[in-house]
Amino acid sequence: MSFVVAIDGPAGSGKGTVTKKVGEKLGLVNIDTGAMFRCVTLNMIEENVNLEDEAKIEEILNKIEIDMKENGQIFLNGKEVTNRIRENDINKFVSPVSIIPDVRKKLLDLQRKVSQGKKVIMEGRDIGTVVFPNANVKIYLDATPEERAKRRMKQNQENGISSSYEEILESIINRDKKDMTREVAPLKRAEDAIYIDSSNMSIEETVEEIIKIIKNVL
Ligand code: DC
Repeated sequence: MSFVVAIDGPAGSGKGTVTKKVGEKLGLVNIDTGAMFRCVTLNMIEENVNLEDEAKIEEILNKIEIDMKENGQIFLNGKEVTNRIRENDINKFVSPVSIIPDVRKKLLDLQRKVSQGKKVIMEGRDIGTVVFPNANVKIYLDATPEERAKRRMKQNQENGISSSYEEILESIINRDKKDMTREVAPLKRAEDAIYIDSSNMSIEETVEEIIKIIKNVL
């Protein structure tokens, strides 16, 4: 039987780092669904796909292979793309790509399939609302846009990606707006999700808080 912890929240809320750490500490399989949308976006950029070209999109989705290794490395169609999918062009195009119904359908199937019979911690935007409405634990992780921009900036520096604070803040605010107002599977807090504002919390504090919540239902 599956056990699912759903972690939703906006860009840069710390979901990625926190989910990874909680997963490691509790032995849960970590699934980053944003990375899946990022891989589809990269594939479309590489293949020069027009977002209205449904036939071409279907062709790409039919043959796409996304491999997420336990060590955090991500492979798209056999090529390592772990850092590439965090670059600015992907940040910009991932929202329009993520509203394409065929893309959402493909990734929804994939997300459910990879979780079958496993204990997983899955992070994204619609995990507690659409992908796993009956998840065992639902958390909505938030932080102010300014704090999130600071964190993204630091993360980029660590990964050798150059960027400016203003550029990141603007892209975060734009992406929030697009993710929250789209018609299909918008980012919103599930009614039964526990809300955590991590603006003034360290990563360790956030990790401990989430572990406490999960242990209550394990
Ligand atoms: O978490 P992230 O920043 O890597 O996500 C990238 C984009 O993918 C995000 O702006 C919207 C989309 N996304 C989505 O629509 N649904 C998800 N479950 C995860 C991500």
